[in-house]
Amino acid sequence: MKSFKRHLITSALPYANGPLHIGHLAGVYVPSDIYTRYLRLKGQDVLSICASDEHGVPITLKARTEGITPKEVVDRYHELNKKAFEDFGIAFDIYSRTSNKVHYETASDFFLTLYNKGEFTEKVTEQYYDEEAGCFLADRYIVGTCPQCGNENAYGDQCEKCGTSLSPTELINPHSTISGSKPVLRETLHWYLPLDKYEGWLREWILEGHKEWKTNVYGQCKSWLEQGLQPRAVSRDLDWGIPVPVDGAGGKVLYVWFDAPIGYISATKELTPEWEKYWKDPDTKLIHFIGKDNIVFHCIIFPAMLKAEGSFILPENVPANEFLNLENDKISTSRNWAVWLHEYLEEFPGKQDVLRYVLCTNMPETKDSDFMWKDFQAKNNNELVAILGNFVNRSLVLTNNYFGGIAPARSKTDDYDEKVLSEIERIRNNIEPSLESFRFRDALREAMNLARLGNKYLADTEPWKIHKSDPEKVKTIINIALQITANLTIILEPFLPFTTKKLRGWLNCGKFSWAEAGRSDLIPPGHAIKKPGLLFEKIEDDVIEKQINKLRASLKTNNDTGTTVIPPKETVSFDLFSRIDIRTATVLEAEKVPRTTKLLKLTIDTGIDTRTIVSGIAEYFQPDDLVGKQISIVANLEPRKIKGIESKGMILMAEDSGGKLVLVSPAEKTGNGSIIK
Ligand code: MF3
Ligand code: ZN
Repeated sequence: MKSFKRHLITSALPYANGPLHIGHLAGVYVPSDIYTRYLRLKGQDVLSICASDEHGVPITLKARTEGITPKEVVDRYHELNKKAFEDFGIAFDIYSRTSNKVHYETASDFFLTLYNKGEFTEKVTEQYYDEEAGCFLADRYIVGTCPQCGNENAYGDQCEKCGTSLSPTELINPHSTISGSKPVLRETLHWYLPLDKYEGWLREWILEGHKEWKTNVYGQCKSWLEQGLQPRAVSRDLDWGIPVPVDGAGGKVLYVWFDAPIGYISATKELTPEWEKYWKDPDTKLIHFIGKDNIVFHCIIFPAMLKAEGSFILPENVPANEFLNLENDKISTSRNWAVWLHEYLEEFPGKQDVLRYVLCTNMPETKDSDFMWKDFQAKNNNELVAILGNFVNRSLVLTNNYFGGIAPARSKTDDYDEKVLSEIERIRNNIEPSLESFRFRDALREAMNLARLGNKYLADTEPWKIHKSDPEKVKTIINIALQITANLTIILEPFLPFTTKKLRGWLNCGKFSWAEAGRSDLIPPGHAIKKPGLLFEKIEDDVIEKQINKLRASLKTNNDTGTTVIPPKETVSFDLFSRIDIRTATVLEAEKVPRTTKLLKLTIDTGIDTRTIVSGIAEYFQPDDLVGKQISIVANLEPRKIKGIESKGMILMAEDSGGKLVLVSPAEKTGNGSIIK
């Protein structure tokens, strides 16, 4: 394995269009912080870079809904989010913003370099234009039906339901999110990065060169590359963003996904005059921490930009996480289904590490995971209080009570003591491989095992029972307990920085280095410790119930099932309706479509025939739960090839605005092929 001289860690730049929630922390910022802190403990040369992403349609949409200017939006949320990161101990070396002058210059220069090298193609295309609002409709200004999965609220750049990335003209039944009107096509000129030109190189670099990437990341790249890459527009018709720096480009700005990743470079420039060392020396290990919706941008598009520019290094790894759900439902800003960081801090002051802990134990590393308030309570009470807090408290209190706060020396050790000492020695080796390969849940579990070990050791040896009868033995026990506590300040530091800081204060010791973990002489005999406070406190049921109620009450609702209702569609003629052939049918077989996460291949008895339908519901239903179910289908939908499988028809589903799906079944069993009308 190549060894690197330094690390450059980037964390996805969050849009400054709203506050941060637990999904952000769990997906991107807690993992990047754990990794950064680990490297720092090892004494590595490391920079951790982040900033607010202040351009793009998400910002202007927010400004529109709030009736303020985009500038007011980004100023507000930049400050709020910067503070939330600080408050949670996310230790960036810089938290910059893409509205900074240095970023404008860096992004413009980057564009110009590619432009002058002839790396772009120029193309006049037809784009949707809103005649009522008098502007072009980029990306999220346009919604319509996803051609892949039928989601009616797909955006012009992406369907959030099935993850497909789209261009506005692929949407079925498009309409403007500004005026609601049906847009018309108008010609406009844009600059394109010919990704197709980089396809061969990307295949080689990722598919051959980075087989060690996480399977979710590697798999997404592979499927992109297999579908074939198309040229990508890097400019937009918008009035918010960095102007395209060429003559005659009035009214056009850089596409937000062109400028934002360059923000990593600009922020490094702003931080240090030595920025080029971090971006251009192949001895730097560049790592991007992101969420799964950012994979294509960080693994394909940005690397192609860097390659085209020619003087920059490429990422060594892109450890993307999946998504965190909340109480069995997707986190959603618009529905206000979230735990906001600034609110958590007000309601649980000083308990940042509790949240960091619970989010890490539940990190969506390989698949989506769920944050449940009850689980938060259980992990606080049963793990942080009962194991870690209890152990540390006992070792510090007993040192104070029996030895006046002065660390005793070990006298004779027995087999049990030796076994514990040898386990301490192994701790670093138990954790390191997990940290190195971004398996932070495992790493934290291993680290907590040391607290578990200490807790059990004290419970088994019961020094409080023998401190009169066998004071020599108690010296050994307490010495070992203090060594374990000191080791915990090292190995828990990446995960629980507030806790380890408190512990170091009570132990009256400085920061140890990672290399010192495993030693059992960290606290020398004669060392004076301080009186400990409380590390964690129990969280009662009523506190948790309050949170659950608050969440439910703040959900934006306007119907009886407690969900927002999507506005009605336009009227259709009776004739149009009657041409759609909706039937009852029974699922005979169901299986996942290989190498996809969303798709199920269903074999259906329609009464008319037995046929195959591919449906994007694999995340909601297990294949086995569907077999034998009577359902409803659109029987005469034109056939479509999905992942090479011919799909004939569509399964009918009821979907609420939050994306929750249920099957539409006849109320009583009836013959297959019955007409639904
Ligand atoms: N703002 C984007 C998002 O929230 C992430 C930008 S990451 C960067 O999805 F690479 F573009 F900076
Ligand atoms: Zn879709």
